[in-house]
Amino acid sequence: MKRIGLLTSGGDAPGMNAAIRAVVRTAIYYGMEVFGIERGYAGLINDQVIPMDMRSVSDIIHRGGTKLRTARCMEMLTKEGKDQAVATLKKHGIEGLVVIGGDGSFRGAKCLTEEYGIPTIGIPGTIDNDLEYTDFTLGFDTAVNTCIDAINKLRDTMNSHERISVVEVMGRHCGDIALYAGITSGAEIIVVPEIQFDIEDIVMRIDRSRANGKHSNIVVIAEGVMSAEEFTKKLQAVTQYSVRATNIGHIQRGGSPSMADRMLASQFGNKAVRLLKDGIGNRVVGIRKNEIIDMDIIEAVSMKKTFNYELYETLQMISL
Ligand code: F6P
Repeated sequence: MKRIGLLTSGGDAPGMNAAIRAVVRTAIYYGMEVFGIERGYAGLINDQVIPMDMRSVSDIIHRGGTKLRTARCMEMLTKEGKDQAVATLKKHGIEGLVVIGGDGSFRGAKCLTEEYGIPTIGIPGTIDNDLEYTDFTLGFDTAVNTCIDAINKLRDTMNSHERISVVEVMGRHCGDIALYAGITSGAEIIVVPEIQFDIEDIVMRIDRSRANGKHSNIVVIAEGVMSAEEFTKKLQAVTQYSVRATNIGHIQRGGSPSMADRMLASQFGNKAVRLLKDGIGNRVVGIRKNEIIDMDIIEAVSMKKTFNYELYETLQMISL
């Protein structure tokens, strides 16, 4: 394969730039040409294609966001959109494609492979950590660290006023950000889409912690359950303690990637190009038990994400 394309798609995630850098540099190492496609599949449909060289990816390893920009593209779900995307690839002589994104982005890549025979490799880039086939997605570690930082600050003021802080983090269907941020920031309660919550039980746990000498509490709630504002109203109605709501929001999607995310990005990007170089498409890369792996894209997108109940129990045991 002589010429490959690269795009970032869906919600951005810290580490996408580091992955772009790794893809471009690895491709050049193997004597391949790389074209960056701006604004994800929307840019592929609208022919926003730019050649990339060594220097075009300088000074980005530490930057959040994505240099190629990104979009959520509904047109890619239509036949016309897909035909147009493939026409752009053909026009530029692009033989294989690296797609950095989440579940939806992988479905686009799967179509290009299955329906048009374009070899594609998916790199899991999403803060949600909602892909079953990989232990971690790119951006998750940084996003959780950003949440921890915010919760540390909330803890100071909540403790001074003896309040309960309800902190909303991202995750529509997947509670991993809430779970990991909850455990690592010392939250007493997490509320996630995977587990039905019981407000009386939450009040009981808070009361028990106060009886044990705590002056404040942290509840981390995933956005998919309800907003922090809404949950605060429910909780305030049944607790004697003062409750305040905070939504961390898009702050958790930005910022300089952590060491873990830069490392993942470098390894994922490198692996993706090595596969294409060997003429292998139709794969996604990931990490399992600390090893970089690749697997069939169709199999990967059909796997249902499971929740780590053991970690949830750990939180329950050590938080009060
Ligand atoms: O998929 C990543 C994500 O950040 C989700 O956690 C969140 O629900 C969604 O994107 C927000 O999307 P947008 O930035 O388009 O509002």
